[in-house]
Amino acid sequence: MTGISKRFGPVQALSDVTLAVRVGTVHALVGENGAGKSTLMKILAGVYQADTGDIEIHGRRQVFTNPAQALEAGVSMIYQELDLAEHLTVAENIYLGAEPQGALPCMISHGRMISQAQELSRQYSFDIRPSAKVEDLAMGDCQIVEILKALRRKASILVMDEPTSSLSESEAKRLFEVVRRLRSEGLAIIYISHRLEEIIDLADEVSVLRDGRLVHSEPASAMDIPKIVHHMVGRELTDFFPSRAARIGDVLVQVNGLSSEAGIDNVSFEVRRGEIVGMAGLVGAGRTEVARAIFGVDKRTAGQVVLENQELSIASPADAIHSSIALLTEDRKRTGLCLELPCSWNITLPNLEQIGFRPFIKPGRENRIAGDVGSQIAVKWSSPRAPASSLSGGNQQKLLIARWLLADSKFLIFDEPTRGIDVGAKAEVYLLLNRLAEEGKGILFISSELPELFGVADRILVMRRGRLVGNLKTKETTPEEVMHLAAVEEKT
Ligand SMILES: Nc1ncnc2c1ncn2[C@@H]1O[C@H](COP(=O)(O)OP(=O)(O)OP(=O)(O)O)[C@@H](O)[C@H]1O
Ligand SMILES: [Mg+2]
Repeated sequence: MTGISKRFGPVQALSDVTLAVRVGTVHALVGENGAGKSTLMKILAGVYQADTGDIEIHGRRQVFTNPAQALEAGVSMIYQELDLAEHLTVAENIYLGAEPQGALPCMISHGRMISQAQELSRQYSFDIRPSAKVEDLAMGDCQIVEILKALRRKASILVMDEPTSSLSESEAKRLFEVVRRLRSEGLAIIYISHRLEEIIDLADEVSVLRDGRLVHSEPASAMDIPKIVHHMVGRELTDFFPSRAARIGDVLVQVNGLSSEAGIDNVSFEVRRGEIVGMAGLVGAGRTEVARAIFGVDKRTAGQVVLENQELSIASPADAIHSSIALLTEDRKRTGLCLELPCSWNITLPNLEQIGFRPFIKPGRENRIAGDVGSQIAVKWSSPRAPASSLSGGNQQKLLIARWLLADSKFLIFDEPTRGIDVGAKAEVYLLLNRLAEEGKGILFISSELPELFGVADRILVMRRGRLVGNLKTKETTPEEVMHLAAVEEKT
């Protein structure tokens, strides 16, 4: 890609970017939220057209006006904001547009489609049921479907935009094996991730984007994490995990014997005032389902939630919000944001009392409040009135955080709050969690990244197959012990 520039209205997303990716290598693309990584790759994949610049593949100049042309030329992309047909099955999604033919022309052989999907996922050692409906899948499984869909296409250039953001460490490891295998088969792989350890582990070359410009490109062997961070943010980053003197108070929340229709089985734990309780587990272990059962999304079949010694009767998320509980969902696209609506609306949505009397709201006040809380965590937007869809992935995540900051709840559940946000912003989120804890709130912090759980949480709960299998003081345990508890059944 040579001299690529792209502007969205007032935002210059890319300026004169030149990137060369070799056959048989993994090329990592890193940069802060909004640096232009996804935009650059969407230009390569034919989603956007560059204002200036050229694309050459194997020495041939290419002009893509739509994704089908890019696919034809061998470019396959796994999008950061997963884009599956929810009402179709896993197999139907994987073979969308390339369905195996049935006995008669114009007919689809569902049987063959299922068996091919089964074979494909076995070939790459993923464990997924081809006949499951996508809408019933957890986030991590959707990511695996998206990956299989891209693998099925037999591309020569594979772009992976944050493929591991919803995967736990063991699934991510499996993906790395796949990536290495594809590399040895001669694919060129462009790999975007905010998990910098992965980059060091996997990449042959690293290119860094900052504010829409390519600022650095070097073999990975010459790079380490501090160096990458330095190029990304233009300064050193110390104290990644802020230290804090936890002042843990009396019991704030008790979850007793919680079971739900979604498969949670007799889960009990407490969260104290000022305490950050982490929750670990593999994809599908039931962590999100615990959050959903507490928040009134999934129907509870047994158990109680007690807040400040009062049993809550929560039948819906609205009840939960009124009971001073917040839930930042892991899936910003499906259950988090209203992407077409302005950023400010997205922030104030559960907090309308703050901006007027029903049924009237004051737009000026709304913009001001949203602007204030947005700037507290440095959301990068052209204005609070811009639609949420115009923000980069990481900045969309920050919108969700801003929403729950505004709500000022007593008990906050954060499900993968740092999904897709850059190192600098992660450090800010950790600080924020600390600040909320210092204000005496209780926090349940669900994460697939063990380092951040160990860096931030006072205690770590471990889920496995819908059950709570560990409740450990962070200071008295190790990542190995947590991994072992989370995965032990898989090995036997
Ligand atoms: N469709 C769009 N309309 C308007 N602005 C856009 C659009 N897509 C991207 N932008 C803007 O372009 C800039 C680059 O965004 P991009 O999504 O490429 O960032 P990114 O590097 O992928 O960030 P992240 O790590 O958060 O995913 C951002 O300022 C973003 O707001
Ligand atoms: Mg992006």
